[in-house]
Amino acid sequence: MTKYKILEILRNNSKSFISGEILSSKLGVSRTAIWKGINSLKEKGYKIEGINNKGYKLIDDNEDIISEYEIKKNLFSKELGKHIYCFEKIDSTNTYAKLHSFSLEHGDVIIAEEQTKGRGRFEKLFYSPKESGIYMTVIFKKNVFQDSLRLFSAAVSLAVFNAIKKYTGFSPTLSWNDINISGKKICGILTECSLEGETGKIEYAVTGIGINVNNSNFPKNLKNKNTSLKIELNKSINRAGLISAVLNEMEDFVCCRKYISNRKKILKEYMERTNLLNKNIEIKIPEKKITGKIIGINDTGGLIILKENQKIKTVYNGELKILS
Ligand code: BTN
Repeated sequence: MTKYKILEILRNNSKSFISGEILSSKLGVSRTAIWKGINSLKEKGYKIEGINNKGYKLIDDNEDIISEYEIKKNLFSKELGKHIYCFEKIDSTNTYAKLHSFSLEHGDVIIAEEQTKGRGRFEKLFYSPKESGIYMTVIFKKNVFQDSLRLFSAAVSLAVFNAIKKYTGFSPTLSWNDINISGKKICGILTECSLEGETGKIEYAVTGIGINVNNSNFPKNLKNKNTSLKIELNKSINRAGLISAVLNEMEDFVCCRKYISNRKKILKEYMERTNLLNKNIEIKIPEKKITGKIIGINDTGGLIILKENQKIKTVYNGELKILS
């Protein structure tokens, strides 16, 4: 796309102005195409100064802009992120991916700057304000199997956890389904899938990842339960860079390391990171509550609980609270 070629030239000449004429001859396009490209970059949020008879100059390159171009700059994946669709505002990236599952390809990524109906587990809303978080969904059309969905979620959580750690240098806490800092949530993951009834084959799975990145505050009802990377680390984080890191790690865990054939290794790493072993917990499943001690994880990612009545129960989903 012409606009990103213009951006590259401006980035490489960040100390001087470069004329429309030079840009048009370098790229072999008309002056009008250059003018349109510059305007489109400005609309995306790039700060470009234009002066008559001098040309154009990128004046601040530290903007937190999410675009396919900024993400692909640091993307090394082969399967994930071939196509990245970025929206300003959408109801939910998961809903979009499900609605368009037919035309989307394996590994395609949907990202929004804002979600009006961001969805969490158990039909809860996921707070998704404008330009502060990462709201992204990846569609998988292979590598996911019905009997190991919980394992798949564990692999995705590990990938996001590792990406946050590598990219920010800060180690959050991997809870069962969420990623937290100081007991408050910074990331939630929601995987949904379509199953062929006759064969039990997963037609596709969409994995939605919501990360509170540059939020400075939260509404009253969420303040006690949520935090952001910016609040905790006291600095803003470049979201496009973190998205690339998440996709690179997901490719590693889900596609390359083949979570399904490497299950023992992945589950071991998961248990180590979550630090859940021997913890006394309470798990809320819509109609009931289970209390007990976590004594292990099974081959498909279910938590093995020793209940207070000394009976053993394996749980695959729910809201987990660590008691001690
Ligand atoms: C949870 O915390 O219960 C899961 C939250 C998942 C939120 C993400 S944001 C991107 C994707 N789109 C959604 O509507 N939900 C997921």
